[in-house]
Amino acid sequence: MTPGEVGRARTALVRRKYDRVARYYDLMERMGGSRMDRWRRELWRRAGGLVLEVGVGTGLNFPHHPPGARVVAIDISSAMLDRARRRAREAGVPVRLLCMDAQELAFPDDTFDTVVASCVFCSVPDPVLGLQEVRRVCRPEGRVLLLEHVRSCSAVLGPLMDWLNPVTAWLQGVNINRDTAGNVRRAGLEVLEETNLWRDIFKLIVANPAKR
Ligand SMILES: C[S@@+](CC[C@H](N)C(=O)[O-])C[C@H]1O[C@@H](n2cnc3c(N)ncnc32)[C@H](O)[C@@H]1O
Repeated sequence: MTPGEVGRARTALVRRKYDRVARYYDLMERMGGSRMDRWRRELWRRAGGLVLEVGVGTGLNFPHHPPGARVVAIDISSAMLDRARRRAREAGVPVRLLCMDAQELAFPDDTFDTVVASCVFCSVPDPVLGLQEVRRVCRPEGRVLLLEHVRSCSAVLGPLMDWLNPVTAWLQGVNINRDTAGNVRRAGLEVLEETNLWRDIFKLIVANPAKR
């Protein structure tokens, strides 16, 4: 297999996993409690203009869209998108939903004022490639806003997350031991803020495309 074929196979696997979990996703998310909703609000507070949401899932961020924002949202899983479409219709949310791979965004360079993602770069098979695409489609003066869970630096939790990662990756396509802030930098973005929301695991990351 060529590296390209390996990448496509890994992406297809993630898509199948999310197609499978789509029907339980909202229930699992609700079990996480209300703080996730608070963090989503905090994430979207900074969004504006023409916004790209990467990995929209079932549309749990829709209630937090800022008034007047024009939002385009993509996801690799058609089952997740079906739910997002239904949610948008029922709530009257004016969002354009597209099936697309974050690692191969079909938008011209410098299109969006804001790119937002929550709990996505733990699943994208090649997160640096996905974040390079985010950088490419974001305007030079734009903002990239991420809410992500990452590997803890704790001497106990970090290795535990490494140990559990094959299980979460196999079950749901989620990697719990990624260094997403590091991946943001490796993709050429400049991290402006990195705020710990819960321990050093849930983070709000604000970045700039650093094109100038
Ligand atoms: C954990 S869910 C998060 C969904 C939503 N952002 C939220 O906060 O509820 C991860 C989402 O990322 C999507 N995803 C994973 N890999 C992707 C890729 N390469 N391109 C686009 N979406 C992807 C999955 O299909 C899934 O909907």
